[in-house]
Parts: sequence; structure tokens; C-alpha cells
Amino acid sequence: MVRESSLVKTLFFNDRLCAQAKPGQFIMVWLPGFDEIPMSISSTSFNGSASITAANVGEATDLLHKKGRGDIIGVRGPFGSSFNPVKGSVLLVGGGTGIAPLALLAERLVKLRTRVTFLLGAKTMKELLFLAKLEGLLSKAEARIFASTEDGSYGHKGVLTELVEETLAAEKFDAIYACGKEAMLSKVFMLAEKHETPLQASLERFMRCAIGLCGSCIIGKYRVCVDGPVFVNEQLREIEDEFGRFRRGFDGRKTPI
Ligand SMILES: Cc1cc2nc3c(=O)[nH]c(=O)nc-3n(C[C@H](O)[C@H](O)[C@H](O)COP(=O)(O)OP(=O)(O)OC[C@H]3O[C@@H](n4cnc5c(N)ncnc54)[C@H](O)[C@@H]3O)c2cc1C
Ligand code: FES
Repeated sequence: MVRESSLVKTLFFNDRLCAQAKPGQFIMVWLPGFDEIPMSISSTSFNGSASITAANVGEATDLLHKKGRGDIIGVRGPFGSSFNPVKGSVLLVGGGTGIAPLALLAERLVKLRTRVTFLLGAKTMKELLFLAKLEGLLSKAEARIFASTEDGSYGHKGVLTELVEETLAAEKFDAIYACGKEAMLSKVFMLAEKHETPLQASLERFMRCAIGLCGSCIIGKYRVCVDGPVFVNEQLREIEDEFGRFRRGFDGRKTPI
């Protein structure tokens, strides 16, 4: 277990299938006797281990944070669609724990010799995930990394989408990859459409079964667990009435985001 910030920890575990997960895929983490929650894979290793990077936001994630070496958790997966790494020049946009799956993608892109521009955002510098790890990885490649913090403690002072807007106005990219809060993703989608750039965005919805049966993760005509979590421009256009506007509770009722 590695503490990344006051709210976020990375938990390493051994599982042969998860160690082969593609960037953007997620697993269901079972806390025996309590709950099962979706988490993105944040790293994989040839030795059969993988990790998840979890923010402590409620009861299940609090229990997960209390796990230590040798404790048991259950995992199902990996599930869902993944980011499709392309060559050329790409923009990665990660907010909060949304940086986790993009860090795994960045490793694959570096191996492909894709030119990476990584934009990270958080409220404060202390909450900028994986900053040192990413600076190390990207320093060996043709890559750049820029950060924004809402309190101005590191990088651009303001919200991440301001940095995205400036970057897209100055330069053309072959693809944008994004993960983070849905309000941020919907702004990135608008900017990707404006600049006619292919976007791959990872969405979050409540999940129970993760195999397309229960319907709790529905957004428009899609089930995020099997049709996503990574969606592209054409799909996002089809769910514009809901994407960035509403989420559904466990009872299926829509509430504004
Ligand atoms: C595909 C996917 C990947 C995710 N990856 C990560 C990750 O890498 N790191 C991370 O910290 N979090 C991730 N999440 C969110 C994580 O699943 C929730 O934070 C977690 O389930 C909260 O559980 P809780 O009992 O601690 O909190 P709760 O008390 O249940 O809720 C706290 C907050 O979490 C949200 N939430 C609760 N349950 C779910 C659920 N099943 N799905 C989505 N949101 C939920 C609620 O809207 C609420 O705002 C991911 C969610 C999805 C759908
Ligand atoms: S979580 Fe059950 S259909 Fe997606």
C-alpha cells in the first residue's frame, strides 16, 4: 500500500488476469461481508501484480484504505473497453484519481514512441497524483507534462479545462484521452468537437454487476460497464442529453450533476 496523498492510496495485489489489463479497464473490488466497488487499474506488472489507486470518499473506500499487507480482497475483472493507444502526438487530460488509468496509458504510449502532452489537475499540489512518477517516466521520452491546481500551489492556477483550452488553441493533436469528473469531461468533449480531434473519455456510473445485466450503469443507450467505460466522440454525441448533465442513483432516478 502506498499513500499518494491525504485522501488517496495505491494498493498492490497479485492477480494474473488483472496484471494483463489494458489501460482504462476496471475491476470490481469485493470487500468481504461489506460491498463491491468499481476501481480502475492503475498499474500492471509482468510478475503478475496490479494496482488500484483509490480515494477515500465513503464507507467502502475507507475499509479498503484500512487493508494492509496479507489482507484479503476479492477482485472480478478486468472489465470494459480500454484506451486505444495511437501513434503521433496525443494529449492526456487527468483530474484527481482520473490520473491513475492515464498513468498506465502513458507507459504504453511511451513504448509506442507517441509524443505525449500530459495535463494533470487537482485542487492542491499535494493532491496531484503520480507527479514525480510521471515526470520520471516522461523525462525519458518525447513528452511534456503540465499541471494546474485550483489554489495555485503548483503550475497553472485555475481549473484543468483552462489548460486544455489553451493547449488545444495552440496545437493540433491526433487524439485526446481524458479521465476525471464528468463536468470536466463534458467540457473536454466540447473542446475536442470544436477542434475536430478524436477523444477517448472514461466515464463513471454506479455499478453493481459490471457484466451488462443489472442496468445500474446506464447512460443514454449505453451501459458503461460493457460499452465503456471508455467512450469516443460518436458515442458521446449520442448521449449528449445525459453526459455531463445527469447521473442516476442506485434507484435509477436522474439527478443533475
Ligand atoms: C469504472 C469506474 C472506475 C473507477 N475508478 C476509480 C479509481 O480508480 N479510483 C477511485 O478512487 N475511484 C474510482 N471510481 C469511483 C469509486 O468506485 C467510488 O468512489 C466508490 O465506489 C465509492 O464507494 P464508497 O462506499 O467508499 O463511497 P459511497 O459512500 O458509496 O459514495 C461516495 C461517493 O462515491 C460515488 N460512488 C459510490 N458508489 C459508486 C459506484 N459503484 N460507482 C461509481 N461511483 C460511486 C457516489 O456518487 C458518492 O459521491 C470508479 C468508478 C467507476 C464506475
Ligand atoms: S453494472 Fe450492471 S449493467 Fe452495468
